[in-house]
Amino acid sequence: MKKEVEKQNKFLSLSKNLLKFKFGEISPKAYVHTFGCQGNVSDGERMKGLLSDMGYVFVDDEKEADLILLNTCAIREHAEDRVFGNIGRLKILKKNNPDLIICVCGCMVQQKHIEEKIRKSYPYVTVVFGTHVIHKLPEFIYRALNTGKRVYDTDNTNLEIAEGNNVWRDGSIRAWLPIMYGCNNFCSYCVVPYVRGRERSRKSEEIIKEAKHLVSLGFKDITLLGQNVNSYGKGLEEDINFAKLLRMINDIDGDFTIRFMTSHPKDCTRELLDAMAECEKVAKHLHLPVQSGNDRVLKEMNRHYDREKYLSLIEYARKVMPDLSITSDIIVGFPGETYEEFCDTLSLVEKVRYTSLYTFIYSARKNTKAAEMPDPVTREEKGKWFDELLKLQERIAAERTAKMNGKVYKVLAEEKSKTDGWLSGRTSGNVIIEFPADENVIGSFCEVLVTEPLNWIVKGELVKTV
Ligand code: SAH
Ligand code: SF4
Ligand code: F3S
Repeated sequence: MKKEVEKQNKFLSLSKNLLKFKFGEISPKAYVHTFGCQGNVSDGERMKGLLSDMGYVFVDDEKEADLILLNTCAIREHAEDRVFGNIGRLKILKKNNPDLIICVCGCMVQQKHIEEKIRKSYPYVTVVFGTHVIHKLPEFIYRALNTGKRVYDTDNTNLEIAEGNNVWRDGSIRAWLPIMYGCNNFCSYCVVPYVRGRERSRKSEEIIKEAKHLVSLGFKDITLLGQNVNSYGKGLEEDINFAKLLRMINDIDGDFTIRFMTSHPKDCTRELLDAMAECEKVAKHLHLPVQSGNDRVLKEMNRHYDREKYLSLIEYARKVMPDLSITSDIIVGFPGETYEEFCDTLSLVEKVRYTSLYTFIYSARKNTKAAEMPDPVTREEKGKWFDELLKLQERIAAERTAKMNGKVYKVLAEEKSKTDGWLSGRTSGNVIIEFPADENVIGSFCEVLVTEPLNWIVKGELVKTV
């Protein structure tokens, strides 16, 4: 991989020179749009790092761009429809500017049928590349600039991790730090293992280096990313696991918060929960997607845990971290799920009392096992179940935020809120708090007194910065 990175650095210089030749003193403009999860956002930042090193500057309006890059997501049908809507819109831009380079990358194009659809139906897309080769962006751009021909690379055999490139950070307070890529779990509904390939972990040395760099740049909230961070370290030569990695990052000097996602319940250990409890920089927030509260459905989903194991994890986690905030993902209307089985999800939600939930109506994904299962319940019926779940969670969330009233929380002030003169921040438990304060407080940890709990967020008053 080292050789490949060196080769790409050569392409980077070549592209830079070529762009200089074409654009002169004016910087070429790139518009980058990322869909999907934080893993994809992080990939987007890495690609922006490469583009920036080639000389591109970033614009918010695709109409101004010389290069458009759409970094796509395939998790649900709706996500793919949105991307195709976007690609369709670009046709006219390409017509007006034949030199425009349009790149489509990410999870969607890692599927053969999508790659073929783009090849056939969207001839104005110049570059198509998958999730395993994002480090080859300099070469793709060089080839597109140099030959004007279409470039395709959706190779999925490369499992090595490219290290050492500059990363463009979209923010200056919160940062994404990938610790591993891919997924081995093959949950029966999920496309990720097919589009992201097998699990592979970054060396702890590289992660620590990046974390230290982020802290030195002033980042205050670092989220470690992986589809299943609990299996971090498998396959590495060093003796490490996720709990150990958390402790190593916690030992880095500085005032910052460590978050992580996502934890798979099947690999969530007491060792990890103990590490969370003992590491003062680790946020007391656990995102532990349950997907369903019914054992038959969990088995069909291939999740490798049951309701009892999940609830016992929650019980232990709350024992060692009494203030722990827990969030989850839930799929409504998995093929063959009955209303009675869905009611087990409702009762689990009632029992765990999540801070918040990400809820999804099941969406069939090509080539997955669940897509072959009979799915007799109508979309309309699933919609009713979905609303029932939302209503329940809304009540629980409101009850939880009501309990925050009158208490003081440590909050990282992150940005201006929509209300003039107000800022928005988040607690260790990942609850958003809005409070009136001066802009120069952004980026500081503050103590905020909660004065008005709303359904999902709370409002408060600044006590002091800490
Ligand atoms: N690796 C994470 C999840 C990543 S995908 C984990 O295992 O927890 C984020 C969420 O999207 C999943 O937790 C699931 O709730 C939802 N999801 C995935 N595939 C889906 C599908 N086919 N239909 C509906 N929701 C889906
Ligand atoms: Fe998908 Fe399951 Fe992997 Fe999560 S753990 S990415 S839901 S296959
Ligand atoms: Fe989507 Fe790929 Fe993430 S499918 S959710 S962008 S891993």
